[in-house]
Amino acid sequence: MRRIGVLTSGGDAPGMNAALRAVVRTALIYDLEIIGVRWGYRGLIKGDFSPLDRRCVSNIIHQGGTILGTARSREFETKKGRAQALAAVCQAGLEGLVLIGGEGTFHGGDLLMKEGDFPVVGVPGTIDNDCYGTDYTIGFDTAVNTALEAIDRIRDTATSHNRLFFVEVMGRHTGFIALESGIAGGAEEVLIPEDPIGIDELCRRLQTSFRGGKKSSIVVVAETGQPGDSFRIAREVKERIGLDSRVCVLGHIQRGGVPTARDRVLASHLGAAAVEALKDGRWGFMVGECRGEITHVPLRDTWRKKKLPPPSFEALARLLSG
Ligand code: F6P
Repeated sequence: MRRIGVLTSGGDAPGMNAALRAVVRTALIYDLEIIGVRWGYRGLIKGDFSPLDRRCVSNIIHQGGTILGTARSREFETKKGRAQALAAVCQAGLEGLVLIGGEGTFHGGDLLMKEGDFPVVGVPGTIDNDCYGTDYTIGFDTAVNTALEAIDRIRDTATSHNRLFFVEVMGRHTGFIALESGIAGGAEEVLIPEDPIGIDELCRRLQTSFRGGKKSSIVVVAETGQPGDSFRIAREVKERIGLDSRVCVLGHIQRGGVPTARDRVLASHLGAAAVEALKDGRWGFMVGECRGEITHVPLRDTWRKKKLPPPSFEALARLLSG
């Protein structure tokens, strides 16, 4: 291979820039030309490309977001859109692509391979941590720490007012952010979609804990693909057991900010590993990291196989709550 491309796609995640820096610099070490694709698959369709050199990725390792820009492209979901993208990469002489994103991004990459026999390697970049085949995704650690800082702040006001708070965190259909920020923030309850407890059980637990002398409580709620659902939960708790509460939806605050050291290191390892694989003529998978070792997971497995939060995390959250 002589010329490869790189793009970021889907929701941005802190550490994407660190991954990009690793991809660019590793490619240059191996004398590969490296082309940046702007605005994810949307830019791929339009041929929105520009060459990247060492200096283009200077001073970005600490920046949140992605300097290439990202998008969720509807057009790329169509066969026609993907055919246009394949034509654009051929015209630009690209021989492979590094895709930094989450499961939607990898799904798109899998289709590029199937429909155009085009070499791709995925790098997991999403705050949700929902890609099978890697212990952590790039951006997750930063998002957890952002949520944790918010929970700590809310704890101050909850304690001062003897209040119940519902803090809603992101995660799409998964509870990874909720569980880790909930354990670290000492939440009284953590509600995750992987193990829904239902409103009756929640009310029973809250009542028991308030009757036992608790004056304030924090319930961390994982969004279930429907942001703002914690308002409904708060309303139902009030109707059933009369407990008044406040709701705080953290939303996109969790997507921005300076990436943590852990995210930067993970991004550096995975970005380099992705280019090394392409250079060696290996493609069609996501590079991940499990127990400190680099893994190569077929792209389809990353969304077909379900990654679940470790049951021990849930057990611990429950054990220590109250
Ligand atoms: O996948 C990352 C994520 O932040 C999810 O946690 C959330 O559900 C979704 O993206 C929000 O997407 P958008 O930024 O398009 O509203």
